[in-house]
Amino acid sequence: MLHGKRILLVIGGGIAAYKSLDLIRRLQDRGAKVRAILTKAGTQFVTPLSVGSLTGDKVFQELFSLTDENEMGHIELSRDADLLVVAPATADLMAKMAHGHANDLASTALLATDKRVLVAPAMNVRMWLHPATQRNLETLRADGVAVVGPNEGGMACGEFGPGRMSEVPEIIAAIEKALAPAARPLAGHHVVVTSGPTREAIDPVRYISNHSSGKQGHAIARAAAEAGASVTLVTGPVALPDPPGVKTIHVESARDMMAAVEAALPASIAIFAAAVADWRVADIAGGKIKKGAGGPPTLAFVENPDILATISQRTTDRPRLVVGFAAETENVVDNARAKLARKGCDLIVANDVATGTGTFGGDSNTVHLVTADGVETWERQSKDAVAAALVSRIAERIAAR
Ligand SMILES: Cc1cc2nc3c(=O)[nH]c(=O)nc-3n(C[C@H](O)[C@H](O)[C@H](O)COP(=O)(O)O)c2cc1C
Repeated sequence: MLHGKRILLVIGGGIAAYKSLDLIRRLQDRGAKVRAILTKAGTQFVTPLSVGSLTGDKVFQELFSLTDENEMGHIELSRDADLLVVAPATADLMAKMAHGHANDLASTALLATDKRVLVAPAMNVRMWLHPATQRNLETLRADGVAVVGPNEGGMACGEFGPGRMSEVPEIIAAIEKALAPAARPLAGHHVVVTSGPTREAIDPVRYISNHSSGKQGHAIARAAAEAGASVTLVTGPVALPDPPGVKTIHVESARDMMAAVEAALPASIAIFAAAVADWRVADIAGGKIKKGAGGPPTLAFVENPDILATISQRTTDRPRLVVGFAAETENVVDNARAKLARKGCDLIVANDVATGTGTFGGDSNTVHLVTADGVETWERQSKDAVAAALVSRIAERIAAR
């Protein structure tokens, strides 16, 4: 499927640059035409002569090159390709891409392109885990950049952990996926997704909430949009950017979320991934509650509306498929089975959020899919992978109905 495809390979300045030489060969074996941009730092790891001998073409290195601009300008270079692949994607290149820098040929071509971009990050484990790199990664993902790896393992610097560039066959598989015509099994469907925590006010300055980060719900909204659905995301307060191409409604409390979900109907699919507070304070104080001689206040609670049960049991405008999430700390599957029956939804995604699992706030998730027909346990995987698998499962069920 790579036959005749034009790949613009950006080789950054990292030890893993040597693997990109093999990547060029393997892409050519599959009939792809590869052009390469080599960063200044990249030339410290592989020579322009090696890269050019393999691509059989000029190696593009300079932004301000009269010959290059006359032969093929940087804009044309970045648009002439079917796909841009950055391998190795250094921490520096990822930062430049995330912030829209354009101060050398590689970053300018990456900013000027209108084509899909795939990055294969490679760096020291501390650089990879640094909040700045993780922030940049999140931004790139939100901008629609595809990411492959990195893998975990020993590094040239002697440390161990995530940061090793994916192996060539993994990068090729990601390239094939990025070039495959987008499957749009949810085209024509409206999907409502909830995400994040809710905040229940105690007084004008205090609230009760939970540790939900919204990463899983937002990933599902993104995956549903990529599958062709028109998506309304109703989200509680989270520190994530709104997913591209998704109508995002920001709410605070469970009651706000309920109202926003009802207003978003009709929809053919509803996926309730938000961690909605079960209770709210019965009487929200009008002014800040003060410390005083009376000691700490006693808070009385009332139950919040049950969004999953309410929407599952609607007699009008019930979505054809209602998916609930069950965050449990014990008896995960049994509790999810009971919840499925009690709420009247079609599918429950149960996850273990006990301390130590890293599910709340983390980037990966172990889930069990519970339906009336049985239970399926998925191996621990990234929240993006869970979202993609869940959306394709939902698409199958919708198609079968
Ligand atoms: C020996 C050596 C190895 C390096 N390996 C990496 C690496 O694997 N990943 C990375 O992000 N930076 C690495 N760096 C740092 C980058 O080369 C440096 O940030 C450079 O400015 C990146 O430029 P570029 O992004 O334009 O290619 C390494 C530096 C040295 C000296």
